[in-house]
Amino acid sequence: MASFANRLIAWQRAHGRNDLPWQGAEVYQIWLSEIMLQQTQVATVIPFYLRFIAAFPNIHALASASEEQVLACWSGLGYYARARNLRRAAQIIVEKYKGEFPRRYEQILELPGIGRSTAAAIGALAYADHLAILDGNVKRVLARYCGISGWAGEQKVAARLWQQADALLPSATHVASGDRVDGGVPNTRIATYTQAMMDLGATVCVRHQPRCGMCPVRTDCVALQTGRLATLPSPRPRKIVPERQATFVLLMHEQEIWLEKRLSSGIWGGLWCPPQFDHETAARDWFERTGLDATGGERLAPFTHAFTHFRLHITPLKIRLARKPVQAAQPGGVWLDVTDALDAAIPVPVRQLLLKVKPTSAGR
Ligand code: ADE
Repeated sequence: MASFANRLIAWQRAHGRNDLPWQGAEVYQIWLSEIMLQQTQVATVIPFYLRFIAAFPNIHALASASEEQVLACWSGLGYYARARNLRRAAQIIVEKYKGEFPRRYEQILELPGIGRSTAAAIGALAYADHLAILDGNVKRVLARYCGISGWAGEQKVAARLWQQADALLPSATHVASGDRVDGGVPNTRIATYTQAMMDLGATVCVRHQPRCGMCPVRTDCVALQTGRLATLPSPRPRKIVPERQATFVLLMHEQEIWLEKRLSSGIWGGLWCPPQFDHETAARDWFERTGLDATGGERLAPFTHAFTHFRLHITPLKIRLARKPVQAAQPGGVWLDVTDALDAAIPVPVRQLLLKVKPTSAGR
């Protein structure tokens, strides 16, 4: 039987994803795509990726952009630290490497926002380096194929998965480094293999109801052969996620809304949000203190936004003002037309709220 790597490579060529916009592109594009794909699926990433590349076509353009511009382009993709790290990394590359993306794995790994798996993916896809990746999808593939139980967040389980990831790499012979197919993945076995692992995890060895009939390594997959597909990979031990409450004050005057820029630390750092309070009483007290005149107030439907470490229950309070105040309600804030606010650097729940309060074109 052909090796694990050879079966995956043959499968990728026939059934993998070979028309992704960053495939066969420069290392800058590959880096950007890997960062966007860290917490987001390919189909969601593609339009953001194309917009980002159009706005910041190279490392110099990204390094000289303001944080505000970069965050605005990232708006809607979530996990904004990725965008801030990307810009900082571009600045480091300009200062330290004259704007050339570094060539060595150790140098790539030092850049902000790049961990072991992302550095390896960039190395394998852009430079044909023989390095193993281990992102969420690959952890699932290996946990099943090798029959590794235990939560991958535990150090000893992760160490076993890395060990297998290294052991299964294709051999380093016959590698023509940097050899590319036009518009396709770099034509090296390691690049095709790396893409195969990602593609298999995303399209065949999926979490629920994996398509084992289409899998090139089903004959020696431990989970399939021992009936453990339902239990591998082992889930994260259940932990209770704290719940928090927040009230957002949507201060509106005609088509405009009041937004404030968040401090760069904490959730949604550097993004524009409505004033936020721990509960409605605090929000109403604040409004009283502004001395502004309301023509109407209304509580909109509460909703929940899930972060990794807690769930935020948001109650939006919409307050219409009779007059726009001559003085800003608070420093660090702006009045923005709701339509323009949708193009600013705003987090997803604020976008959802703006879409709710946005005047329909018929009403304008
Ligand atoms: N997930 C992470 N990196 C990826 C890539 N290059 N292609 C598809 N899915 C991915």
